[in-house]
Amino acid sequence: MTPEDIEHLAATLKTRSGLILGSDKTYLIESRLAPVARREGFANVAALLTALRTKRDEKLMVAVTDAMTTNETFFFRDKVPFDQFKSDILPALAKTRISGDIKVWCAACSTGQEPYSLVMLMDEMQMLFPRIKLDILATDISDRCLEKAQAGLYTQFEVQRGLPITMMVKHFEKVDEMWRISPKIRSSVRYKKMNLLDDLRMVGKQDVIYCRNVLIYFDLETKKRVLEQMANLLADDGCLFLGAAETVLGITDVFKPMPGMRGLYIKNAASAQAPIRKTA
Ligand SMILES: C[S@@+](CC[C@H](N)C(=O)[O-])C[C@H]1O[C@@H](n2cnc3c(N)ncnc32)[C@H](O)[C@@H]1O
Repeated sequence: MTPEDIEHLAATLKTRSGLILGSDKTYLIESRLAPVARREGFANVAALLTALRTKRDEKLMVAVTDAMTTNETFFFRDKVPFDQFKSDILPALAKTRISGDIKVWCAACSTGQEPYSLVMLMDEMQMLFPRIKLDILATDISDRCLEKAQAGLYTQFEVQRGLPITMMVKHFEKVDEMWRISPKIRSSVRYKKMNLLDDLRMVGKQDVIYCRNVLIYFDLETKKRVLEQMANLLADDGCLFLGAAETVLGITDVFKPMPGMRGLYIKNAASAQAPIRKTA
C-alpha cells in the first residue's frame, strides 16, 4: 500500500462517512478490505486501493466505505440505556403523548439489535401502557447492515449476546442454523439508508434519539454538526442517548447531560419543559 493510496482512502472515508482512520490503519485497512479485494477480483488490497484512487468507480467507493464501517452491536447493549427508557423515559413521555405515538430514531442501527431490543422491551411494557405505540425509525449508512437488519436473521452467537432467554424463546424461531425474529417484532421497525453527514431534516421530529457508538469515529467538527442537527429534530421534552464512550461536553452546548443518568442528554434551551426529570 503506498502512502498516496492510504491518504486518498482516508480522505474518501472522511468525506463519505465521517470516519477518521486511526493509527492502527494499516491493519484495519488490510483486514476490512481483503474480502472486498477478493470479491471484486483484485490481486490484493494494495491493487484495490490504487484502483480506488485512479478510477472514479462509484460502486467500488460505496463497497469500500461500507466495509470500513465498524458494525459491532448486540441486543440490549450496555443495558443502562434500555433500563432508563423503561423506568423513566417511557413513563414520562406516555403522560404527554396524546396521540399515543412515541417517535424513536435509532440513528446508526447497524444490524438491527438496538431497535429490536426496544420493540421487545415495549412488548413487555405494553400492559402498563396499552395506548402507547413506539414508532421506530432505524437508519444506517451500510447497505450490508440494513439488509441483515431487515432480514432479522441472527446466528446462535448473536442471539446469545445480551438477549434474555425468555425473549429469545418468545420472539425468535430457529431456521436451520440461524434464529429468525418474529414478523411482529420485525415489522415494528422502519429501516432506511441514511448518512449522518447529510441534511437530516427529512427524519422529522423525534421524541427519543439513540445515536450510540458512531460519533466516536468522527472528528470534533463532524460530531458537532451531527449533534446540532439532532437537537433541531428532537422534541423539547425529548432525549438523546449516546454510547458509553461518547459525550456532548466540549463539543456543543445544544445538549446537556441528565444528572444521574449516564449517557442521557436533553436539550439545553428547552430543559424547563423536559418531563424526564424524575431523578434530576
Ligand atoms: C458500532 S455500530 C453501532 C450500532 C449501535 N448503535 C450500537 O451501539 O450497538 C456503528 C454504526 O454506525 C454506522 N455509521 C458509520 N458512519 C455512519 C454515517 N456517516 N452515517 C450513518 N451511519 C454510520 C456504521 O455503518 C455502523 O453500523
